[in-house]
Amino acid sequence: MVENALEALLKEERRFPPPKRFRERANVKDPSVYEQAAKDRLGFWEGFARELHWFKPWDEVLRWDLPFAQWFVGGRTNLAYNCLDRHLATPRRDKAAILWEGEPGESRRLTYAELTREVCRFANGLKSLGVGTGDRVTLYMPMVPELAVAMLACARIGAAHSVVFGGFSAEALRDRILDSQSKVLVTADGGWRRGAVVPLKSNADQAVAETPSIEKVIVCRRIGPSAGSGEVPMKPGRDLWWDDLVKGQPDRCEAEPLDSEQMLYLLYTSGTTGKPKGIIHTTGGYMVGCYATTKWIFDLKEEDVYWCTADIGWVTGHSYVVYGPLLDGATTLMYEGAPNHPGNDRFWAIVEKYRVSVFYTAPTAIRAFMKWGEELPRRHQLTSLRLLGSVGEPINPEAWIWYHQVIGGGRCPIVDTWWQTETGHVLISPLPGITPLKPGSATRPFPGIEADVVNEKGESVDSGYLVIRSPWPGMLRGIYGDPQRYRQVYWSRYPNLYFTGDGCKRDADGFFWLLGRVDDVLKVSGHRLSTMEIESALVDHPKVAEAAVIGKHDEIKENAVVAFVTLKGSAEGTPALRDELKGHVVKKIGSIARPDEILFTAELPKTRSGKIMRRLLRDIAEGRALGDTTTLAEAAVVQSLKERYEESE
Ligand code: WTA
Repeated sequence: MVENALEALLKEERRFPPPKRFRERANVKDPSVYEQAAKDRLGFWEGFARELHWFKPWDEVLRWDLPFAQWFVGGRTNLAYNCLDRHLATPRRDKAAILWEGEPGESRRLTYAELTREVCRFANGLKSLGVGTGDRVTLYMPMVPELAVAMLACARIGAAHSVVFGGFSAEALRDRILDSQSKVLVTADGGWRRGAVVPLKSNADQAVAETPSIEKVIVCRRIGPSAGSGEVPMKPGRDLWWDDLVKGQPDRCEAEPLDSEQMLYLLYTSGTTGKPKGIIHTTGGYMVGCYATTKWIFDLKEEDVYWCTADIGWVTGHSYVVYGPLLDGATTLMYEGAPNHPGNDRFWAIVEKYRVSVFYTAPTAIRAFMKWGEELPRRHQLTSLRLLGSVGEPINPEAWIWYHQVIGGGRCPIVDTWWQTETGHVLISPLPGITPLKPGSATRPFPGIEADVVNEKGESVDSGYLVIRSPWPGMLRGIYGDPQRYRQVYWSRYPNLYFTGDGCKRDADGFFWLLGRVDDVLKVSGHRLSTMEIESALVDHPKVAEAAVIGKHDEIKENAVVAFVTLKGSAEGTPALRDELKGHVVKKIGSIARPDEILFTAELPKTRSGKIMRRLLRDIAEGRALGDTTTLAEAAVVQSLKERYEESE
């Protein structure tokens, strides 16, 4: 975020205390929870763990062998059991666990009892294919209830799932399967997105042609033969339909009593190199963290209809579409498609139709809605809403106020929740019945979380890097197959502090104001991408010699992707080549990474030691006066680049 926007942020003086009616009914009313948790951090988390089911209790809450944590050591539990079976002896049995809306408009309602049956049958199906505890299963699916079913089935038998976002390309899927060495891939014959079919099965076929570990491909029928050119091709011996697999499977499948540290899932996320990292999450601690934060932050009540708009392909979907709400016995809504299909008011139509009461989305979406205008939400009854949430990027005060007034009708608190794929669950957020809100601030660390802001030396300061001082239950347990990278990325800048990669300011009230990434990780419309990954994709093209990618500030998307490219030998930077390169990135990563702008250049600005000076490129792209160029090998390169960039706009 640019410096003057930041200054404006810190001058933000509006305060929104919890409305009286909200506070009176809130799950947490007593501000002393912070002190109590600080006094006995482990006891605090243990309290939540005791509200869940354990086949065998833990012997030790935390074993901390820096940087490797184990939580609820020696305990045996099952996350799917806690999400499902635990509720079956209560009136929740016949309550909706999942409400689903397809993009073309169909609805489905699965009660806790029905969802349990589906999960058991699919778990038995997986077992019949030889999948067991410790195996990996890749899920490349649209947003349909079967995705949640498959995740819960894996959790039930102790197999780790690796969900790959349906917007990733065949090659991205292939690389993630190669890294995880999954035995089974679960996909679908397609999914609906903006009125078109996403060809998941055909991508899966391309990927699996190069991934020898995959023995079986299970295909969920979402589209059917009518929409396209007949049924998707199935490879005999390898591919089988979901329905055929579960047909005749028993309705019951005992949940495995798993070790608390059993790997629950891998989720690949972008870091500062070209290769995505397989973030490891395990069972017991993650479960407790998701349960506690959902209950306290989203303040769920029995009658709530809760909707988190994230795709399950990202961590927000894992923790706050599936696991957190189901642990809490809530009704979680899943929507398959785009926010602007068939009209720009689709989200508001869904809120009205299902009487959504708790709504959780990303600032990029809020900014798009602002642009589309107030009259769209005004066309719908949004009076069922009582709490709003935001996640994924800093929310600018203007968007916050719009969200509060136009969507929340001025009566709904907003929980701005800060966290990461690596943290597993929210670490910084208001508690909506207690915390006075300041637009643009994620407010305070959750009770039991020791977040701090430090300078280069690791000293506590008011402006610097956000770090976490002590382990928390849902923290990542490592990077799959690469413990060295885990140490290097998160634990090398400070030997005993978890480094988040985010810049942060802390105000006089101790409130945290997140300022975005300090490394080369971008947020593009809420999707996490690395500049290096996009650079590698560009350099992979035979005509490209070198590429530098930066994120340029964008009003709606947060970052727009701008690439500076030098070509090999005689290659010419034509508009056709520009399109070809964009297409190449889409093929390597997916359309979410398509560069918004590509500028061809004979040279890239570098320091004398040969490092590309991205800061200068960012200055050029954002039209700022050029910063210090004294360390530059070729100052003239920059001046001419700047002129050419301005001409190209
Ligand atoms: C950013 C998403 C400001 C941050 C859950 C973090 C935020 C990265 C917020 C993780 C927030 C997430 N305010 N910034 N409320 N929430 N971020 O792994 O830069 O996709 O490091 O996890 O998103 O992105 P990830």
